[in-house]
Amino acid sequence: MTRTPLISGNWKMNLNHFEAIQTVQKLHYVIPKGAMDDVEVSIHPPFTDIRSIQTLIESEDLDFSLGAQHCHFEDTGAFTGEVSPAFLAKLNTRYVICGHSERREVFGETDEMVNAKVKAILKYEMTPIMCCGETLQEREAGETESKVLGQIEAGLAGVSNEQIASLVIAYEPIWAIGTGKTATADDAQTVCAAIRAKVRSMAGDETAESVRIQYGGSVKGGNAPELMSQPDIDGALVGGASLDPDEFASIIQFGR
Ligand code: 13P
Repeated sequence: MTRTPLISGNWKMNLNHFEAIQTVQKLHYVIPKGAMDDVEVSIHPPFTDIRSIQTLIESEDLDFSLGAQHCHFEDTGAFTGEVSPAFLAKLNTRYVICGHSERREVFGETDEMVNAKVKAILKYEMTPIMCCGETLQEREAGETESKVLGQIEAGLAGVSNEQIASLVIAYEPIWAIGTGKTATADDAQTVCAAIRAKVRSMAGDETAESVRIQYGGSVKGGNAPELMSQPDIDGALVGGASLDPDEFASIIQFGR
C-alpha cells in the first residue's frame, strides 16, 4: 500500500486575503516543475481568505488543495462566529483540520466535539485532518501514548472503517508547536506507529494501511527529509514554516 504524502500548511491567524494571494502565487512559482508529482499539498488559510484562495486555485488551475483550519459540527443555527462545514464544502474545501491543540487548549474543544466535527466534515465529503498530541508534562510522565491513543479512540468513535481509511490524522506534540523543538524522527515514528496500531485494533488492517498520519511541530526544510522518511509518517502539518513560500517549498520537496 502506498500512501501519497500530504503536506499541509496551517497558516493559523496569519496573512490577510491580499497577503494570502501573494503567498500562494509565490509558492506556486518557487516549486520546481514535477516536485509535486508524488505529494499532495493543502493550504489552510484563515476563513476570510478562503474564497480568494479558492478563486485563485481554480482560475489558475494550481495543484493545491484548499483547506480550512476549523469548523462547527452543526449545519446552521444560532452559533455566533462559527462556520458551518456545509459552507466550507460549497467553497470546494477539501481538507478541514479539527481538534488542533490550540482549539482544544485555548478554546476548550473536547474529544466529544472533535468526534462530532469529524462526522460533520465527512458528511459533506471533505476530509478531516484530526489532530492529537501530548503536553510536555504528559510526555515527561510517560503518558504520551495513553493521551494520544485516547484522543484517537474518542475522535473516531462511531466512524465507519471506510471513512477512517480516508482520513488524515496529525500527530502534533504540543511542546513542539511553534517552539523550534521537534520530536526526533525516531520518537515521532514510534508514536505514529502506535497510532496506526490503534487504528488497526479499531478498524482492521486495510483501514490502518490506508489512513495517512502526518507529523506536526516545528517542521522545517532541514528536518523534513528525516521525518518524512519514517515508515509511519505520511506527511507534515506545518505552521510557521508554511508562511514562507521558499521554506514551505523546501518541505514539499523533502528528500528530493
Ligand atoms: P509549527 O510548525 O509552527 O510548530 O506549528 C505546527 C502546527 O501547529 C501546525 O498545525
